[in-house]
Amino acid sequence: MTLYRGTVVDTPVSPFDGGELRVEEDGGVLVRDGAILARGSFAAVRDAHPDEPVDDLRGGIVVPGFVDTHVHYPQVRIIGGLGMPLLEWLDRRALPEEARLADDDYAAGVATDFVGALTRAGTTSALVFGSHFPGAVDRLFEESARVGLRVTAGLVVSDRVLRPDLLVSPETAYAESVRLAQRWHGAAGGRLRYAVTPRFSLSCTDAMLQACGSAVTAVPGVFFTSHVNENAAEIAAVEADFGASYGESYDRHGLLARRSVLAHNVHPTDAELDLLAARGTAISHCPTSNSALGSGLFPMRRHLQRGVRFALGTDVGGGMTFSLLREALQAYLVQQCLGEQRTPLSAAHLLHLATAAGADALDLPEVGDLSVGKRFDAVWLRPRAGSTLDVAASNAGDVEDALGTYFALAGSADVAGAFVDGQAVWRPARG
Ligand code: GUN
Ligand code: ZN
Repeated sequence: MTLYRGTVVDTPVSPFDGGELRVEEDGGVLVRDGAILARGSFAAVRDAHPDEPVDDLRGGIVVPGFVDTHVHYPQVRIIGGLGMPLLEWLDRRALPEEARLADDDYAAGVATDFVGALTRAGTTSALVFGSHFPGAVDRLFEESARVGLRVTAGLVVSDRVLRPDLLVSPETAYAESVRLAQRWHGAAGGRLRYAVTPRFSLSCTDAMLQACGSAVTAVPGVFFTSHVNENAAEIAAVEADFGASYGESYDRHGLLARRSVLAHNVHPTDAELDLLAARGTAISHCPTSNSALGSGLFPMRRHLQRGVRFALGTDVGGGMTFSLLREALQAYLVQQCLGEQRTPLSAAHLLHLATAAGADALDLPEVGDLSVGKRFDAVWLRPRAGSTLDVAASNAGDVEDALGTYFALAGSADVAGAFVDGQAVWRPARG
């Protein structure tokens, strides 16, 4: 067993439902076989378990592991393309790199870069947009298993619009998806799971989306993920091609369900929001990407009003950071720009969106907060001595105030440890 000591901060009840930040200033969390056995003040837990070794995580805060609900593995090396809207950015920046993952050795290097970036950011669970190539998907799962992250991912499939080397027939897409799902869904003690992944309706025929529906049915428990309502030109093209709304293009093939996560949804109709709510489908809100590609400002208020679940996604490489801290900050900044339509967000909301809301979207009830009975998936954020974050967080009135400072100033460099199932997946040596 290990007794972790630190300032423990989480959101077991959603601030969107009136929940408050839970803070244990000198807290103790006792972990056995990856599960939280006891928590409380350090003194109380220590008294009850005097012989257990202590891992000292003081100096900073300990929060639940971050959950990234939408991030593209093949795009880690092309972050930072400026000045292009979605479809031009895909053609010129993203897809040429994605084509390089046809080479298994190249893909293995990208997988190492990608999983390393997740762990350094304190991301402990992620729904990952995979590659168009089965070998590259294997490399991603292998690296995730080696490092110990919770990863849900799958083969990206498309049969039109994209460059020809990224296209397959619906029959091949079905066969490869099912084969990979059978290999990886539930592997590594359940930390790895499979997601059927058509790129977006724009790059799929009805036959392809139908094949995806069949693949979801063929392997019980797998996820479905794709994109929706991101960019005006894309939406117009989808509506023209399908003679239906973007949301309906998936729903008509049974693809909207509780284990479905769609990225963006910047421009939904009310009818689409009602459809998503009825199906229990979650939205991955990707604010750095929406800003970088000029896609638009997320209507959070309408998602809340209509009961659509949402959490955060970095959408690297359209998005510009692996850090859920920075992604959450951008979510806050965007809402501030929405005037009457804004949803005011506190530090507690931001922490919730980066942790528990993500766990809910990914149907991971065993993580998301640091309650007894949950797995110990956690991040230790510790400012570097003398940094602006250090100075400002030390000056904060209380822990909630300090948490706002972390969201304003912290990033991957301030992650001093990341744990999954009680195992350190990232613990940099620091002076
Ligand atoms: N829509 C289809 N593919 C992509 C992608 O790679 N990034 C984003 N942001 N949107 C997409
Ligand atoms: Zn995306």
